[in-house]
Amino acid sequence: MDDLVTITYKGKSYQLPVIIGTENERAVDILRLRNETGFITYDPGFANTGACKSSITYMDGEKGILRYRGIPVEELAEKSSFKETAYLLINGQLPTETELRKFSIMLNDNSLVHEDMKTFFQNFPRASHPMGILSAMVNALRSFYPELQTSEEEINLTVTRLLAKVRTMAAMSYKISRGHTVVYPRPDLAYCENFLNMMFNTPVTPYVLVKEVVRALEVFWILHADHEQNCSTTAVRVVGSGRVNLYAAISAGISALWGPLHGGANQAVIEMLNEIYRGGGDYRKAVTRAKDKNDPFRLMGFGHRVYKTYDPRAKIMKRMCDNLLKTLNLKDPLLDIAKELEEVALKDAYFIDHNLYPNVDFYSGIVLRAIGIPTNMFTVMFAIGRLPGWIAQWKESMDDPAWRISRPRQIYTGPTETHYVPMSERQTA
Ligand code: SDX
Repeated sequence: MDDLVTITYKGKSYQLPVIIGTENERAVDILRLRNETGFITYDPGFANTGACKSSITYMDGEKGILRYRGIPVEELAEKSSFKETAYLLINGQLPTETELRKFSIMLNDNSLVHEDMKTFFQNFPRASHPMGILSAMVNALRSFYPELQTSEEEINLTVTRLLAKVRTMAAMSYKISRGHTVVYPRPDLAYCENFLNMMFNTPVTPYVLVKEVVRALEVFWILHADHEQNCSTTAVRVVGSGRVNLYAAISAGISALWGPLHGGANQAVIEMLNEIYRGGGDYRKAVTRAKDKNDPFRLMGFGHRVYKTYDPRAKIMKRMCDNLLKTLNLKDPLLDIAKELEEVALKDAYFIDHNLYPNVDFYSGIVLRAIGIPTNMFTVMFAIGRLPGWIAQWKESMDDPAWRISRPRQIYTGPTETHYVPMSERQTA
């Protein structure tokens, strides 16, 4: 006997099937709801709506669990590389040695961008935000690489081009924005090392790779690699549902991530901590403001739509801050403020009652500062990390027979039928 739910309205009952996931989450299958009942559902922000079935990432917001293809993110952060984690998300299993080597070679072979793209970067106003540049340039990749994206081989080439070139474009936009010489990717450097070298190497001072810094970047990107149906992933899936090319769908994801409520929060956290620091370090004022309903201020890096406990990624990020600063013999006053802010907030009834805990963005900016990434590139770093997840989710949606063009319905609240009024009869304001 299938699991069913019954909806009764004005004496009439309707039965709908229940879907149960591998971790026992349950959903009411409303595929036939409107045809059978005339009803639609109403759920602004989709907090209670499952948009798809997915086997990529599992989150338990109450227990603070995050797994990529079943593997806890803590294990991947400790034992895996970003390249290997990207392969796991996109292909569904960890690569063999041969598969990983082939993947590395493809990434290396595709890490250069077309020289004509440099003129694009050179013509953005210098104050342009790197996320706007990245979104535009990823979309522009389609013009340079108009390959078909139908066969497995064609899709793999596009996927590899995106993963390989996004680093190069991010570093190129940074160098050009500073009027510095562009540094090209090197075949002898691994994924993360290459990015750091392209960002910080100069003809005058060669960049010295420090293994703890490389590892911190690797773990940063592993922690950001996927997060089931978040805002930007939903943007990628929705835009992709129109069967546009992958570059355009990813460009939409980058734009969605840019917002301060989403991936832009890592930059907003540092700006908030800096404001507290410059104002004398009174972090309690920030907590008071965050609780004031008349104040639009929010404690950036706190709260989450799914996690109602500590974000498992924030725990790892916080530990990484301490280790990295110690290794580099650095002190960052913003870390001290962040820790005190967290301590006060987590004891405050408002934050406890609202289940507000640090999320991935609360400590991630401190790690990026220690690596030397400029603040306005923090969300670009998030985007590079999230790219494998977006790609995996896009591929899964393209292969899902149930996935159709995304077109939600609405509850109309506007005027009932009325008629055109000639200008002469309109009341002057
Ligand atoms: C990311 O979805 C993902 O998985 C995203 C992400 C990923 O990996 O893809 O995890 C990455 O985007 C993390 C979130 C980064 N954003 C921030 O840190 C911005 C600050 N956080 C908030 O704006 C908020 O918590 C959100 C946007 C993260 C979640 O918003 P929701 O789920 O829509 O919750 P809400 O805005 O409806 O808030 C519920 C209540 C409200 O109070 P009441 O009106 O019910 O009394 O909680 C309050 C809010 O005022 N609240 C906060 C708060 N976050 C929520 N109050 C003060 N400070 C905050 N940070």
